[in-house]
Amino acid sequence: MSGHGAGGSPPPGAVLVDGLVVRFGDLLAVRGISFGVAEGETFGLLGPNGAGKTTTLRVLTTLLRPDDGRALVAGYDVRRQSLEVRASIGYVPQALSADGALTARENLEFYARVTGVPRRDRGPRIADAVEAMRLEAILDRLARELSGGMLRRLEIATALLNRPRVLFLDEPTVGLDPTARRLVWERLHALRAESGTTIVVTTHLMEEAERHCDRLAIMDRGLLVEEGVPSLLRERHEVANLEEVFAAVTGHEIEEGGRIADVRAQRRVARRLG
Ligand SMILES: Nc1ncnc2c1ncn2[C@@H]1O[C@H](COP(=O)(O)OP(=O)(O)OP(=O)(O)O)[C@@H](O)[C@H]1O
Ligand SMILES: [Mg+2]
Repeated sequence: MSGHGAGGSPPPGAVLVDGLVVRFGDLLAVRGISFGVAEGETFGLLGPNGAGKTTTLRVLTTLLRPDDGRALVAGYDVRRQSLEVRASIGYVPQALSADGALTARENLEFYARVTGVPRRDRGPRIADAVEAMRLEAILDRLARELSGGMLRRLEIATALLNRPRVLFLDEPTVGLDPTARRLVWERLHALRAESGTTIVVTTHLMEEAERHCDRLAIMDRGLLVEEGVPSLLRERHEVANLEEVFAAVTGHEIEEGGRIADVRAQRRVARRLG
């Protein structure tokens, strides 16, 4: 919690997005979206394939410059204060990022070095991340031999080494079985309870978002079409679940895209680690 509160001003939200626009050539991938995430909140960015979820996260993690609009993360501007933003965040990308040829421990050591954790802090930081994601039993196994769920928890652990205030996760549970999915969420909830970490997660699994997110925003074709607390969104649209909220606000179903994303993500895993 460094850098805020000294002036007596209220802490800014964890994330503030205002009129964000991202273009890829002629394609408007993000069309002027605005939303906020409060400190300590678990926030879901929902939407089908191509909605612009990953593009939005790439802007918030400073990997991509927006064409228009403004985004603040942990109070810092993603364009003008990218170093401060990077020091304040963890990012678990959609494509798998662990090195399959290294052990879990070696992956953590590698990430501790490249994310600039001072040498003397690396041991304790790794121990904390291992504890937070319950990786004790698999530390000396090669990443490519881990199950999808263990691998995801290893990647989340690598993203925790710099003690981020805001943790961004792109489709963290895609391709996982229900037990592995539950364990990932259990660890994320524990992380928030113990460290107050703000969690921003993308998913196309409506049921999961409904169960685990305090608040969420629904994206479709680059636009933010709905935002709010899951139960209130259901009430507002007088429907039984978020799938129906999505259908009500977009006029189409989310199903098809979700399945394709699952298959694609699983292939990515196979390719990366094979
Ligand atoms: N580097 C790029 N160059 C060109 N077009 C891109 C690039 N990255 C994304 N796009 C396009 O921008 C749009 C939004 O893509 P994005 O990856 O943000 O969607 P998403 O919501 O994350 O979808 P998914 O559920 O498949 O991960 C898509 O039409 C995609 O094809
Ligand atoms: Mg994506």
